[in-house]
Amino acid sequence: MLLRPLSLADTDAIDLVAERMRATLIEVEGEEAGGTMYSMDWLRERVRWHLDGRAAEVVVAADEAGVIVGHTIYRVESDADSVTAGLHAAPFGLISTTYVVPEARRLGVAQRLLAHAEAWFLECRVPFACTWTSETNMPLIGLYGRNGYVESERGPNQLTQTMMVRLTKALSA
Ligand SMILES: CC(C)(COP(=O)(O)OP(=O)(O)OC[C@H]1O[C@@H](n2cnc3c(N)ncnc32)[C@H](O)[C@@H]1OP(=O)(O)O)[C@@H](O)C(=O)NCCC(=O)NCCS
Repeated sequence: MLLRPLSLADTDAIDLVAERMRATLIEVEGEEAGGTMYSMDWLRERVRWHLDGRAAEVVVAADEAGVIVGHTIYRVESDADSVTAGLHAAPFGLISTTYVVPEARRLGVAQRLLAHAEAWFLECRVPFACTWTSETNMPLIGLYGRNGYVESERGPNQLTQTMMVRLTKALSA
């Protein structure tokens, strides 16, 4: 398995990641809500936004034949609510999304992608990492749980009303 950070020049891979972001939404939120939440143009732009010079990476995992079987997107983030309230908001590592094709699951691909994200966060010297997911997403909660993440917050997704949990872990070198 080879992990590779994308650049804006990787247009085919960017399209693939956008399609799989939609597949993730459908798998987690269901066909109706997940399939209509964002247009493909919006999803593609969202991938490109992460590659547009900000502190972020889009990383794909390719098998021995070069086929992309998974991806993750992560960035350094500040807490928008705290910034709006005029409070100091220390940057932290946010893993925005992770997806592995069904045929390649339970082979450790997501585990490799998560370790890659955490190593990058350590280089960025952020004090903690987190992700958000649906409270019913047991595969993802299992993955993060075995890596030391604990629930630190919960609240409904504003678009779907799905109950979301924030999973957080302190980072140290
Ligand atoms: C969640 C997901 C990324 C896991 O990918 P994966 O490559 O299969 O995960 P790994 O093989 O690295 O699994 C590592 C550990 O995570 C946990 N885990 C993974 N899948 C699990 C499952 N179906 N049930 C319970 N625990 C699971 C286990 O602890 C596993 O270790 P083990 O296989 O030794 O028991 C994958 O199932 C997926 O793409 N799901 C759909 C997209 C999604 O929900 N993304 C997150 C949106 S926020």
